[in-house]
Amino acid sequence: MNYRHSFHAGNSADVVKHSLLIALVRALQLKESALTLIDTHAGCGLYDLNGEEAGRTGEATQGVLRAFADRNPLLNDYRATVEAVNVGAEPTLYPGSPRILTQLLRPQDVLILNEKHPEDAYALRGAMRGTPAAVHERDAYELWLAMLPTRTPRGVVVVDPPYEQTDERARITATLASAHRKWAHGVTVIWYPLKDRAAHLRWKNKLRRLSIPKFLSVEHWLYDSDQPGIYNGAGLFVINPPYVFTQGLLPLLEALRAALAPEGHRGELTSCWLSE
Ligand SMILES: C[S@@+](CC[C@H](N)C(=O)[O-])C[C@H]1O[C@@H](n2cnc3c(N)ncnc32)[C@H](O)[C@@H]1O
Repeated sequence: MNYRHSFHAGNSADVVKHSLLIALVRALQLKESALTLIDTHAGCGLYDLNGEEAGRTGEATQGVLRAFADRNPLLNDYRATVEAVNVGAEPTLYPGSPRILTQLLRPQDVLILNEKHPEDAYALRGAMRGTPAAVHERDAYELWLAMLPTRTPRGVVVVDPPYEQTDERARITATLASAHRKWAHGVTVIWYPLKDRAAHLRWKNKLRRLSIPKFLSVEHWLYDSDQPGIYNGAGLFVINPPYVFTQGLLPLLEALRAALAPEGHRGELTSCWLSE
């Protein structure tokens, strides 16, 4: 486990992932009944954008700092969650998914966080002190299945692995198939990086063969032509997205695309159903 999210916190993928997560949870919270939010790969919870790791990559300049330079009101909810952990006008701290989810919690909701890396798990416990979140230090795929079905009638599982293991996609596919058998109505969000289109298409075809209905795919291609072998963007699979979320998705995706488009590129941020 070499991946450390502190090198990448607040990058363009985090902006899209966290903006959509906020919109999704808010859409589910239009109903009063309790939600269980499960973050299987939680990371540290809070990141120093002026720290050595973030400084080495500078990725936040193409992500959260662009979202702050852009004043589109559709990004207000996202900016507010970042502002909530900062004091000045420009963010110096970045809230990871645990700190974002904790801001969205209502008294009836439950938050379960999991992080396997011992140092990041220690940082996560510190970042979540004083919040109602439960923090686990287990294997994400074991925890994902162990927590289902959730104790509350509704819930969201967020799966955000680093993809440093060659079998990561295969583990996701197998765990998702088992999770669906235990909890067919639950909402699942799976983040993925986009490198080359052919490999991504092969994985999508495998996922399609699971025959899971209401399977949405969101893809963010940053550049107008693929840059071979490097990170070209990222996306999310959302299983069982609520109707209110999918209805509001198009303008939000366009706002994110415009805010995050790299110099000289338009980029592409689209959604489609793998199965409806
Ligand atoms: C992309 S980061 C998570 C970022 C976080 N979800 C956010 O949005 O702020 C992925 C995390 O998964 C952890 N991780 C990797 N493999 C894991 C596994 N099998 N089980 C649990 N955590 C794992 C890594 O240590 C890393 O902190």
